[in-house]
Amino acid sequence: MLPTAELHLHIEGTLEPEMLVELAARNGVALATSDLDELRAKYDFSDLQSFLDLYYANLPVLRTDQDFYDLTSAYLARAERAGVRRAEIFFDPQVHLGNGVPLGAVFEGITGAFQNSPVSTDLILCFLRDLGPGAAAETLRKALPFRERFIGVGLDSAEVGHPPAPFAEVYQQAAAEGLHRVAHAGEEGGPEYVRDALDVLGAERIDHGIRAVEDPELVARLRDEQVPLTVCPLSNVALRVVDRLADHVLPAMLREGLLVCVNSDDPAYFGGYVDDNFAALRGDLGMTDEQLALLARNSFDACFAPDEEKAAWK
Ligand code: HPA
Ligand code: ZN
Repeated sequence: MLPTAELHLHIEGTLEPEMLVELAARNGVALATSDLDELRAKYDFSDLQSFLDLYYANLPVLRTDQDFYDLTSAYLARAERAGVRRAEIFFDPQVHLGNGVPLGAVFEGITGAFQNSPVSTDLILCFLRDLGPGAAAETLRKALPFRERFIGVGLDSAEVGHPPAPFAEVYQQAAAEGLHRVAHAGEEGGPEYVRDALDVLGAERIDHGIRAVEDPELVARLRDEQVPLTVCPLSNVALRVVDRLADHVLPAMLREGLLVCVNSDDPAYFGGYVDDNFAALRGDLGMTDEQLALLARNSFDACFAPDEEKAAWK
């Protein structure tokens, strides 16, 4: 198993149908169906929004710190089997606040699971871009009492129509708090989303970024500055950002000398964990052992762990 770092993983996107049903029963939350086959049949998406609709609809089953602990523990156990040595994990606090769950329970459950795993872990708080910059600033304010529990901020949810620039101020506040800054950009949105995430938000790493390849100047910049791009191949196929894995731009990005790595995004929804992504790259894209090893090494270069820790993994 190739040791790797997973840098683009939404913990809520690891909610497997089995755990969905279990948590719904535990918390007395009604589901449209508890039939696992019927639930799985819904995991057929036409675009990002069709996925987000199901992802958000499932999340009210998460209510207590124990729920978040169980979800995170299950992911970390699976990630360990996938070769993950380091995980920088996203969460969506606005969803849970909207569902009436106190932030303290979310932090307690997720970081409690971190403490009981051999995987090196840290947490990144994502703002929902479709709820706008005011809601993001309010979320950061509510999270600051838990400042020592997370290392950075990110930007996720519906991309097109919700560009990065309006989030400049909240990203500045995050920087002033010593937080790392990442952002989803160039998944469904064009290269200008990637450029603005870098220039306006000061993003240190771009999540997805695959549409950057449409702009040669931007590609040159990403190469020169070695900006990490957290690519999610099975996610891109599941959300029809690319038609087939065989058409994916990842090999071209590697050839261009970009600092790309492989991640699972929302593995319960997109057909696999990070090892499944590597296997698909080998099988469907014919990527070589050397290419896969480079992708894994890149993931450690791209991560926010201290250099001493990184050296031990590579
Ligand atoms: N893209 C954007 N927002 C998200 C995703 C994603 O893949 N998963 C959870 N929120
Ligand atoms: Zn994502």
